[in-house]
Amino acid sequence: MAKSIVSLPILCLLLLLSFNSGGLLKLANGQDKTWCVAKPSSNDSALASNINFACSQLGTLGLSCNMIQQAGICYYPNTLINHASVVMNYYYQALGRQVWNCDFGGSALITISDPSYGICQYGWEI
Ligand SMILES: *[C@@H]1O[C@H](CO)[C@@H](O)[C@H](O)[C@H]1NC(C)=O
Repeated sequence: MAKSIVSLPILCLLLLLSFNSGGLLKLANGQDKTWCVAKPSSNDSALASNINFACSQLGTLGLSCNMIQQAGICYYPNTLINHASVVMNYYYQALGRQVWNCDFGGSALITISDPSYGICQYGWEI
């Protein structure tokens, strides 16, 4: 008797969890992993100013953009869009992954797939 009363909510919870592994519920709660990258359509001047903005703000937090400098692990490919995405994400992570920290005048987007490549790891827990 008591067993059937308890088991229905538990069953619902298990269903909810299984449908939401890596899904929208966790994202809405801010618990899932998200990254911030530059929109592919962004022009070079927007990308360059995003790099300047993100790196100067990170600098005030004592954080460095040296990963996109010549000896850095994310220097290659040496393109504005790569460098911008790396530091825009760093800024977004460092400020706690709030949606308004991934705006950059409409030239950024949040992604749920890890943009890391090769040795260039996009940190998400900073
Ligand atoms: C680049 O994009 C920004 C933001 O979308 C826009 O304000 C600016 O006019 C664009 N610049 C050029 C040169 O197209």
